[in-house]
Amino acid sequence: MIFFRQPRQNPRLRQHQPYEGRQLASKWAKTEALLAEPSLVSHIPPTRKYSPAMLSGMLAEHGMVVVKPIVGTGGGGVIKVAKDGQGYTHTYRERTQRFGTFEGLVRALGNRTKKRRYLIQKGIYLATVNGRPIDYRVKYVKTHKGWEYRALVGRIAKRGLFVTNLCQGGDLVTAAQGIRASLGASYVKDKKAKMRSITVIATRMLERKYPGIGQLGFDYGIDKQGKIWIFEVNTRPH
Ligand SMILES: Nc1ncnc2c1ncn2[C@@H]1O[C@H](COP(=O)(O)OP(=O)(O)O)[C@@H](O)[C@H]1O
Ligand SMILES: [Mg+2]
Repeated sequence: MIFFRQPRQNPRLRQHQPYEGRQLASKWAKTEALLAEPSLVSHIPPTRKYSPAMLSGMLAEHGMVVVKPIVGTGGGGVIKVAKDGQGYTHTYRERTQRFGTFEGLVRALGNRTKKRRYLIQKGIYLATVNGRPIDYRVKYVKTHKGWEYRALVGRIAKRGLFVTNLCQGGDLVTAAQGIRASLGASYVKDKKAKMRSITVIATRMLERKYPGIGQLGFDYGIDKQGKIWIFEVNTRPH
């Protein structure tokens, strides 16, 4: 498999690109915009605002959740929390801590959740490449001719991490390579087409709520069963 790194973009150049559009920071607001379209609902992991009571309910229902900052980028502050027969686990970066009680878990999370606002999202068991989770980035850009795809790539998490972000050491592959290596060659065509069609529908919803957006970066997960999930939409994607 060929890995390639993204070239660094000159920030001064980016400022002068047409249709740069606005930056919409809140993952919560963008998720709400997508949920208004019935055909997207089943592709969005259940998402709630963080509170200890909501965490307890989400863990009871889903077993594994991701707690992430409402305003965040680059996989920073994204925590995996799971419940099992012995108690709870809290995974941040390479480190997994175990808690016997829910209070212990909430105390550990409180160090972060007191300082910033967080949301809780159902955790998706991503398909993997050699045990490393992979997800996908679709870059969609508005030009004078309308919306155009600029990239459809896979990102494989650095060994030992569950976040795939390149700035956390993830590796970039083509989407075809990633789908083939994680799910099998027979999935490539269908999953690429499905990510593209979700992108078109989701963009229509976002444009309706936020006229003026011009660059979108969709983060798609594909779980072990081959189901596509929208993790987030970036309005100023790298
Ligand atoms: N619900 C989820 N289930 C499993 N993994 C997730 C989930 N949400 C996020 N992740 C992982 O964390 C990474 C970062 O989360 P994301 O929502 O894209 O925020 P950021 O703005 O930090 O990139 C994702 O690319 C994915 O690898
Ligand atoms: Mg992301």
